[in-house]
Amino acid sequence: MRANHRKQEDQLFVVRQLRPSEKPLFRDHLLRLDRESRTDRFNGGTKDEFLISYADRSFSDGTSVIGVVEEGQVIGAAELHEKPDPDEPTAEIAFSVEREWQHRGLGGLLFKRLIQTAVGLGYRRLRVTTHANNAAMKALAKRFGAKLTFEFGETVGLIELDDPELFSLPVQQPESNLDYREAN
Ligand SMILES: CC(C)(COP(=O)(O)OP(=O)(O)OC[C@H]1O[C@@H](n2cnc3c(N)ncnc32)[C@H](O)[C@@H]1OP(=O)(O)O)[C@@H](O)C(=O)NCCC(=O)NCCS
Repeated sequence: MRANHRKQEDQLFVVRQLRPSEKPLFRDHLLRLDRESRTDRFNGGTKDEFLISYADRSFSDGTSVIGVVEEGQVIGAAELHEKPDPDEPTAEIAFSVEREWQHRGLGGLLFKRLIQTAVGLGYRRLRVTTHANNAAMKALAKRFGAKLTFEFGETVGLIELDDPELFSLPVQQPESNLDYREAN
């Protein structure tokens, strides 16, 4: 399913699952992440070589990758990794939005789309891990009902997918990217 989200009267953000042939778009998105975003996303391991092999792995191990596709480039991504759990089908999720696109609502769009994908795949629970100072990720996870706990120096968010309120959450409208382009 492809989701289009209006960003201005006549323009749309495209948020959709990436096809296997689009691995290079995901890889190039990861490589465009600035140092701080790489650290926030991966808690270390931020060299280009690591990101290239991470993209390879993600497209060969069954990970679902959802992208915000803008003019042929992926500018933000959400990943859903199967995490074997004997009791509940559980997925580990992760997000990345390129610096110049952050804080415009794209994280929220990706989260909403990722929940639809997770439900479609039969997952019952999502788990997101981030470092304790990642205010944006913690705010985002909270908005989607995550119960946050602190484990081994990291913040872990758990989302139960049987909560009907999840599907009625409003998503902040992203700002226009025309403003960004004109300003730069
Ligand atoms: C975390 C991340 C994905 C959020 O994406 P985004 O597009 O910037 O998110 P949004 O614009 O949808 O905002 C998400 C929430 O964070 C809040 N937020 C944004 N920046 C913030 C900041 N610097 N401090 C506190 N809160 C912040 C927003 O107000 C919003 O809160 P709300 O849901 O209560 O309204 C993005 O910042 C990112 O890629 N960071 C680097 C990688 C990373 O940290 N990944 C998470 C680990 S898996």
